[in-house]
Amino acid sequence: MITIFIDGSEYEVNEDATLGHVLHEVKSARFGSSYRGLFCGMGICFECVVKVDDDLYKRSCMTKVYPGMQVNTNSL
Ligand code: FES
Repeated sequence: MITIFIDGSEYEVNEDATLGHVLHEVKSARFGSSYRGLFCGMGICFECVVKVDDDLYKRSCMTKVYPGMQVNTNSL
């Protein structure tokens, strides 16, 4: 297990998970105020984009989690 931060809250997650999977579990796949979320799950639709560290447009379904990851789901 590793620790990541989503919208300022700390979560212990499986180190083999994608960020999209984690967000689906903890945020019910709702990102931001527009209720975006996982759609295709394979990097095509960009509905799962969130801010990760300094990267404003990270597709969460294509991104593996790593220790200390800072995620902002309200950046768009
Ligand atoms: S869910 Fe479509 S790009 Fe991530």
